Amino acid sequence: MNYNYLQLEIRGRVGMLALHRPQKLNALCDGMMDELTLALDQLEADEGIGCILLTGSARAFAAGADIDQIQSQGYMDAYKKDFVTHNWERIRSCRKPVIAAVAGYAFGGGCELAMMCDFIIAADNAQFAQPEVMLGVLPGAGGTQRLTRAVGKAKAMELCLTGRRMDAREAEAAGLVARVVPAALLLEDAFATAEKIATFSLPVVMMIKECVNRAFESSLNEGLLFERRMFHASFGLEDQKEGMSAFLEKRSAVFKHR
Ligand code: COA
Repeated sequence: MNYNYLQLEIRGRVGMLALHRPQKLNALCDGMMDELTLALDQLEADEGIGCILLTGSARAFAAGADIDQIQSQGYMDAYKKDFVTHNWERIRSCRKPVIAAVAGYAFGGGCELAMMCDFIIAADNAQFAQPEVMLGVLPGAGGTQRLTRAVGKAKAMELCLTGRRMDAREAEAAGLVARVVPAALLLEDAFATAEKIATFSLPVVMMIKECVNRAFESSLNEGLLFERRMFHASFGLEDQKEGMSAFLEKRSAVFKHR
């Protein structure tokens, strides 16, 4: 598949997707979001892929929704085409892990797209912001919800109400990003992380992802019950027998992803 706004590279069991609209700082236009949906379908369907990495360029992960494209949009246009919902949210339903590797600007929809991923690894030059308030709109791809869950009410409220930028260190301290690495090492580091995850049993990785996400959707009791049932289910996997046998036999496990 050829993409106009994305670069896709498959390295081993990792699918690396780079947003690629450099002249517009990866502003998220409809064409790009349609392609992202297709690319995620492709990687999700590929048995050989165990983890997905989403990145931008060294200067910008993405500087937000494409303002050129939506400036003239009216309410009925947005409502009828189901703006955002219809082609931004494929990441949400992705069952394989998706890591965001963020350098430079992650503003507006860029910050929201990164937050849709399972976790963010940030370059030390990364900047996060929800500047929609300055444009006369509000975050509409999950910013008010995911940012609040990630960094708490006080900081999310301040960031969304002022549009100010948060640097990588502040984002790490606030819990928005998993780790900060030197910008020059971002892709290497994020790839090594994705590669490591992709070596583990894919069904187990998918179960872990589902369980952690359940923590946001349910009470502690319900979440614990869900985790316990998944845990029991993992004993039905060939990979569980292999993983534990390998430990006992003092050798490396070779997972078959079933
Ligand atoms: N939508 C459409 N185009 C965008 C864009 C966006 N969200 N963000 C940047 N661009 C375009 C600029 O219009 C410019 O295009 P041009 O060269 O054809 O004029 C190009 O990308 C480079 O951006 P520029 O503003 O010249 O770069 P900069 O380094 O001076 O500033 C930013 C970078 C990110 C601070 C600035 O581009 C910006 O504030 N962007 C909008 C961020 C935003 O509000 N996002 C939320 C959208 S809902």
